[in-house]
Amino acid sequence: MIDMDSSYKRLIDGNRHFSMSKKLDDPEYFKKLSLGQKPDYLWIGCSDSRVPANEVTSTESGEMFVHRNIANLVVHTDLNLLSVVEYAVNVLEVKHIIVCGHYGCGGIRAAMGNDLLGFVDNWLRNIKDVYFKHQTELERISDFEKRADRLTELNVVEQVRNLAKTGIVQKAWKTRQLHLHGWVYGINSGLITDLSVIHDGNEDIDAIYRFNL
Ligand code: CO
Repeated sequence: MIDMDSSYKRLIDGNRHFSMSKKLDDPEYFKKLSLGQKPDYLWIGCSDSRVPANEVTSTESGEMFVHRNIANLVVHTDLNLLSVVEYAVNVLEVKHIIVCGHYGCGGIRAAMGNDLLGFVDNWLRNIKDVYFKHQTELERISDFEKRADRLTELNVVEQVRNLAKTGIVQKAWKTRQLHLHGWVYGINSGLITDLSVIHDGNEDIDAIYRFNL
């Protein structure tokens, strides 16, 4: 038997505890989950370990379809994200898509700097583009942390808009209700702020992005 690092072994022990406590509450818990999933929500959040989608929303297994990447971006050439969105919208028929950013985001801070970091610079370029678009507003804020907080919010708004620009979402709007939301989570408070950037139809996006459907 290979000697396992204790911080790693902790995970297996934690899993046994999880499985047992769920079964104690409801002996049928896993049996019910194994029948299939029908989540109402798609969560697009940051990969940051401090923003676990289920935990911060007190939701259970089966309630939320989740996609996470650095700084919760919706990039229209990202096959991974598009596959997730398409499956969530067309097959699972989620009712809500939530883009959730968070204050204190390392991706946002890195995008505000000029260091050459590597591969991730290409990813962070999407945030730099958001910064550039709102440069006047952002540079009126002298405090770096406050400016980062504002960019975090503007980034979420932009990513929700990016969702609205996809054919997947616009096609769904033709036949049913689908609500897009932008949220920001506060790591230091544990609280979510709803930015009230709800999109229910393509009226809110520029005409050039609207498909003839
Ligand atoms: Co982050």
